[in-house]
Amino acid sequence: MSQPLPNDAPPSFGRPEAPRWVPAVAPAEPPAEGPGSGAGSGTGPDAGSGTGPDAGSGPDAGSGPDAVAVDPDSDEAASAPARGDLGATGRVFPALPEPAPLATHGPARVLALCNQKGGVGKTTSAINLGAALTEYGRRVLLVDFDPQGALSVGLGIPAQALDHTIYDALLEGMPIDDVITATRVPGLDLVPSNIGLSAAEMVLVSEVGREHALARALAPVLPRYDVVLIDCQPSLGLLTLNALTAADGVLIPLECEYFALRGVALLQQSIEKVTQRLNPRLQITGVLATMYDARTVHGRQVLTRLVEAFGDRLFHTVIARTVKFPETTTAGEPITTYAPTSTGAAAYRTLAKEVLASSVISNT
Ligand SMILES: Nc1ncnc2c1ncn2[C@@H]1O[C@H](COP(=O)(O)OP(=O)(O)O)[C@@H](O)[C@H]1O
Ligand SMILES: [Mg+2]
Repeated sequence: MSQPLPNDAPPSFGRPEAPRWVPAVAPAEPPAEGPGSGAGSGTGPDAGSGTGPDAGSGPDAGSGPDAVAVDPDSDEAASAPARGDLGATGRVFPALPEPAPLATHGPARVLALCNQKGGVGKTTSAINLGAALTEYGRRVLLVDFDPQGALSVGLGIPAQALDHTIYDALLEGMPIDDVITATRVPGLDLVPSNIGLSAAEMVLVSEVGREHALARALAPVLPRYDVVLIDCQPSLGLLTLNALTAADGVLIPLECEYFALRGVALLQQSIEKVTQRLNPRLQITGVLATMYDARTVHGRQVLTRLVEAFGDRLFHTVIARTVKFPETTTAGEPITTYAPTSTGAAAYRTLAKEVLASSVISNT
């Protein structure tokens, strides 16, 4: 479905310039602000929210005295879907079914959030997609598989102080149940990690079945959960191979920046190798555009490029750049509880619907 990617070739974008027009990427609802609303949103530059041909309000953003329009941290660039209209990716936004309530739970489908580039939104997406899925009644287990422990910290778990982490389940034979900890979000559990995990690759190298260690560790609890999300570290090393071997699907977050596609070809090769040699059920669930700023020509060009490169594999949901996400890390909670009415929270709820509708999850 997707076209082959230019191998690390930077896309030929024009130079960023002041936006002159904004495509119709209207949020379905007016950008609602959550309690933690910050950063000068509200002056309504409406970039991207062209709710009509007179969406001339959008581009003017930026000419205002407060220059909020070019503030990438404002929620105004939100890319919530415009039902029956074009989504932020320029394609018709599909009508996503409301996820049906579940009478019983499990067995879980496992998704790895993977990109060997750091800072692209893997951890943020794991936390917020996971939290959004719980709002639809799904039982979710988040696996922090990065020695940085950002996922654990982002959920308010002081991972450095923990006695037991994923390392114990991976290499010490400890039952994963003894490592799982509840978070403040009902239905959202966590397998924490900390810097101790950085030794795991070296120890794993000499293990038999070294790529299957995570799958083995997770197996006993899969019947209890509906979705397991593995937050990978920014590398294609043995830990990431373990995540891909344990997964049914891969979700690839890509930052809407000039070099977004760099390295993606390599990641796709790794996924193909895992599919061929270790885990034939692995599929790419989707590519998620993150940190999108609809008000810059640059942002829109990158998004156009992602549509060209990935076609139907690009999620319709696009995550806008907003300062709320860094704020949630400090708060130690997902955006769905920190700023429940924010466009960022809405976007991850829409992503949750897209993920639940995807074949990787729904073909159970
Ligand atoms: N949509 C977004 N808008 C603004 N900042 C974001 C967004 N998503 C993530 N961030 C911030 O960017 C940084 C990197 O994100 P993170 O999810 O940790 O990436 P990764 O796990 O891929 O390294 C974090 O400080 C995070 O708060
Ligand atoms: Mg991370």
